[in-house]
Amino acid sequence: MCGIIGFSGNKRAPARLLMEGLKRLEYRGYDSAGIAWQLRAKLRVRKRAGKVDELWDELPEEVMLRAGIAHTRWATHGSPSDANAHPHTDGPERIALVHNGVIDNFRSLKADLEKRGHVFRSETDTEVLAHLISEHCNGSLEEAVRTALRLVEGTYGIAVMSADEPGKIVATRRGSPLIVGVGDEGSFVASDAVAMAGRADEVVNLEDGDLAVLIGDEHRILRLAGGENHQAIWSALDLPPTVADKQGYPHYMLKEIMEQPDALEDCFRGRIQRDSGTAKLGGLQMEPRDFLQIDRVRLLGCGTSYMSSCVGARMITDLARIETTAEYAPEYRYSNPIVDRNMLFFGVSQSGETADTIMAMREVQRKGGRVMGIVNRVASTIARETGAGIYIHAGFEYAVASTKTMLNTMMALLLFALLVGRMRDLSLARGRELIEEVEQLPEKIRQLLVLRGDFREAARHFADSHNFYFMGRGYSFPIAMEGALKLKEIAYVHAEGYSAAEMKHGPIALIDESFASVFVIPPDSVFSRTFTNLQEVRARKGPVLSITCGDQRTEELADYSDQVIVLPETDEILTPFLTTVAVQLFAYEFAELRGCPIDQPKNLAKSVTVE
Ligand code: F6R
Repeated sequence: MCGIIGFSGNKRAPARLLMEGLKRLEYRGYDSAGIAWQLRAKLRVRKRAGKVDELWDELPEEVMLRAGIAHTRWATHGSPSDANAHPHTDGPERIALVHNGVIDNFRSLKADLEKRGHVFRSETDTEVLAHLISEHCNGSLEEAVRTALRLVEGTYGIAVMSADEPGKIVATRRGSPLIVGVGDEGSFVASDAVAMAGRADEVVNLEDGDLAVLIGDEHRILRLAGGENHQAIWSALDLPPTVADKQGYPHYMLKEIMEQPDALEDCFRGRIQRDSGTAKLGGLQMEPRDFLQIDRVRLLGCGTSYMSSCVGARMITDLARIETTAEYAPEYRYSNPIVDRNMLFFGVSQSGETADTIMAMREVQRKGGRVMGIVNRVASTIARETGAGIYIHAGFEYAVASTKTMLNTMMALLLFALLVGRMRDLSLARGRELIEEVEQLPEKIRQLLVLRGDFREAARHFADSHNFYFMGRGYSFPIAMEGALKLKEIAYVHAEGYSAAEMKHGPIALIDESFASVFVIPPDSVFSRTFTNLQEVRARKGPVLSITCGDQRTEELADYSDQVIVLPETDEILTPFLTTVAVQLFAYEFAELRGCPIDQPKNLAKSVTVE
């Protein structure tokens, strides 16, 4: 969480350069923002609660800086307030620092510092870092950072400046992402490369324990423990400056929903092998005989990545006949998991930076387990720490609520299921049949997106409902959970996702004429069972929205629903690729109707880099 950017220029540059970068980081946290720069021998700090634009409006036009650091915050310790916003400074304001992460032992460090006369201005854990570094600063900022951090427990990505060393920025990480970049204007450090898109030509992802020292375009990557890091790998930055443009859409979320047909095609193009009814996934770096040894697969993820893993687990079990489960990463980590040589683990994550997922993967790796990544962001921590896996190629996802990455993750897992399935019991005919259907999915999603008006109408119809169940069975059960998650996070409406079968075991007690239900109910192998559950809800006067695929059962559904939305038809296994888009559109239209800040839902941030 939190966005960090730092810049050290070859010459003075307008503060706008930092603010533009900060604006692009706003999806990582947006409750307060701040900037520090050097003016003559002093540090200047401007910070406030609120959005980056509010800070920008307050900043004098003429601010020029040789070096500066800026931050957009997602609060962990201390409420979103002016005082708690970053950058934080030491007492005499000789050190300024921005931080992403959590300092676990900040209370004891703070108490010790207070005994030595330090006075604190905020409730944050971060402020102790500024005071600690200040205490050890005797000429070299990097040495002060090294010494101070020896006392620190927890996670951090930090960028620090000192009034005594004009133009210098020191940055280091443990557990929170940081990237260093260089371009014509100087060097940058940021928590996400998107902040320097169009400005840096080459970047290096810092590893835990790396320490970067930047002065203009002179940059050194050292180790916190001492010495240089000779292994740092630089690569070209291929993010265009337009990466964060909305391209005419009112929200990133809608733009990304609309991008799904093309994004999905980018995931399977070049990977499916029509003739042999299978897929090719070179990134797994596995020989055919390696696949034969796998007897269990575990998919570790959080939030929407967990939902797509639930779908993927069914696909792999169904098609490859390998026992596969999706696991909530933070729960799995602490469950003393069984790990053996025949198991294959995937860390599933859009950002590749989710701390809960990374920690679960590391626990499996510690036990000797084989872990691969299914990620969107190239060279992210999960991609680097696994070294093998499947990139989902969804393109940049900016909206806090994940959309296109859910579809592409499901596709990556389907390709894996096809690949392994065709090595086992999946017939050539079934493999080819599925591939033919997969190739039609982008067009079917395009047809579905045209139905946006139906979802708007549904949102209007249910506008007064304050409680929703989302229900489905089989492949539609995870989609019901995803629909509930989306409605909660962007429309702030209470929603729960259930297997429709579970209804009668308790949740049905709440159903009455004010409690709405969305049934994800394609005409699949469990249709008649789900339909019975739907009728049970109707018998208790519950309002119902039905989402189905094709016309086969529309009439029956219409008899028991307030509204039926009919999506294109597809194979049962592929229905999640359509029904997911449907629940996204419903949540989007509902949130839009309620006037919610769809791209920046309250209390949330993209990339949850703290546990
Ligand atoms: C929901 C959402 C979150 C993320 C979760 C995992 O719309 O975006 O639930 O899915 O925080 O993030 P990644 O996939 O980056 O690991």
